[in-house]
Amino acid sequence: MTKITLVAFDGTRFDVDAENGSTVMENAIRNSVPGIEAECGGACACATCHVYVDDAWAETVGAPEAMEEDMLDFAFDVRPTSRLSCQIKVRDELDGLVVHVPERQA
Ligand code: FES
Repeated sequence: MTKITLVAFDGTRFDVDAENGSTVMENAIRNSVPGIEAECGGACACATCHVYVDDAWAETVGAPEAMEEDMLDFAFDVRPTSRLSCQIKVRDELDGLVVHVPERQA
């Protein structure tokens, strides 16, 4: 298990024990984190699972692949640390990861 924290737009923190191999989006849905819609179910086709990776974690999480980058064009208020949470796979090195949910999705 890897501990990750999702911070809702109102500041509520959701500390989650996430299974390695699952995605950050799946953990958000499972824990009813408000603001993550994930309409396409994780297919990188909707951009409604947009999150901001905490600055301290941006390098470890890494940059989006080309397909995700294209999809991010449809997200609301994209920033340098924007990622689609369905494309972030939980792994040991992300233990302690913090991501922030934007004000709204696309
Ligand atoms: S759930 Fe649709 S792009 Fe992530």
